[in-house]
Amino acid sequence: MTFPETKSLVGIDAISFATPRAYVDLVDLATARGVPPEKLTQGLGALRMSIADRHEDPVTLAVDAASAMFDRADVDPSQIGFCAVGTESGIDHSKPVASYVHGLLELPSRCRVYDAKHACFGGTAALMAACEWIASGAARGRTALVICSDIARYEIGSKGEPTQGAGAVAMLIAERPRLLEIEVGRSGGHAADVHDFWRPLHRRDALVDGKFSVSCYLDALSSAFEEWSTLERERGRGEALVRCAYHVPYVKMAKKADARRALVEGLTVEAAEERFRREVGSSLVFAGEVGNIYTGSLYMAVASMLHHEARDLEGRRVGLFSYGSGCAAEFFAATVAAGAGRLARRLELDRPLRDRVRLSISEYESIRRAEGEGDPVAQESHTVAGASTVFVGVDAVERRVYQRAARGSSPLEGRSAA
Ligand code: HMG
Repeated sequence: MTFPETKSLVGIDAISFATPRAYVDLVDLATARGVPPEKLTQGLGALRMSIADRHEDPVTLAVDAASAMFDRADVDPSQIGFCAVGTESGIDHSKPVASYVHGLLELPSRCRVYDAKHACFGGTAALMAACEWIASGAARGRTALVICSDIARYEIGSKGEPTQGAGAVAMLIAERPRLLEIEVGRSGGHAADVHDFWRPLHRRDALVDGKFSVSCYLDALSSAFEEWSTLERERGRGEALVRCAYHVPYVKMAKKADARRALVEGLTVEAAEERFRREVGSSLVFAGEVGNIYTGSLYMAVASMLHHEARDLEGRRVGLFSYGSGCAAEFFAATVAAGAGRLARRLELDRPLRDRVRLSISEYESIRRAEGEGDPVAQESHTVAGASTVFVGVDAVERRVYQRAARGSSPLEGRSAA
């Protein structure tokens, strides 16, 4: 039995990402933990990891990513009818991050607003729902805002510690997109009930069965890619994929993933290594600087790829692989739109990496210790240099309070956030 496919052209019309200014250099971390630096820089492929300070959380990162995108890509927020945030860094058991984001960005009241959670897969769940909302006609010409926003935390001194990070990716989803046309309804998927990574409700830091998580990721990739390949054969093979972006918990994981895909395709080890350099390298530059940003990780890889070579990829087909522990995964394809190179240049996707602050290990550890003391009280006064959106603290009835510099005005440089 065959089913009709959607013929709509839907996908990522604009993209932007935000990451905290503060970072830890992984050579510093290796030295402090008594680990050979090459284990982190080569063994994991990580150079730096972004660290969220106390005034930053999934809401501030999401708002900063979206407002940069609105400004640089001429997005009209009044046309947005869908606002979904993929996150696993929940700040409230009930009120979604998306509601805060909707308010701070002053989006229209006629809007579907919610969070999507499935570990790192939550962003893809939101993206697919947005694409299907548009392809079905339910959008009635409106656009969708999808944001992936997370802070990746593991215990200090644990094996997971060098694979932390923080950041958000905002994407505008629209018909006839200017960046990436997504092949809706042609994904290969995989799901299983596994305990590879989890975060009980009372914990800020994730728990992980590290080696098992790597094998769950790779098994999910084989399974999702096999289903995608079967659909390709049944529905007529499209153009070959010229690039592939993966979920990147750490850079080496994308290399393992590409090698596993090559194994499924029957490539030799030499051919696989050559393909990895050519087809995956540009998508990993930002991840090496930022670390794991959970839900946004795949889409930061897409941003990195578009930043480095969108113009050369116009009209070409790329593969995308999303993995979320627990687990759920999806492999799908997309075509880089004509004119994407020009827009990618305007988006200045590397801007969040330009003006960063290197933390000493003791500064990093004192931020982590302060987090353990709970949220600041909103009356506290503190100064936040260079921040556009600030988490001020919680008020007397534990409501979260945010402050945002008005659109187009200068950031809250040197001003008290409370
Ligand atoms: P580990 O035990 O610290 O490291 O755990 P290792 O001993 O496996 O070494 C790592 C690599 O470094 C190995 O290379 C070593 O050979 C190499 P590989 O065999 O993998 O190619 N190495 C060296 N290289 C150069 N010089 C040296 C040296 N020594 C060793 N001197 C692990 C690593 C990733 C497991 C750990 O960091 C961890 O648990 N991280 C968190 C979990 C994670 O990221 N899992 C990835 C898959 S699950 C996923 O992606 C979902 C996730 O994003 C969450 C979500 O969905 O929400 C995490």
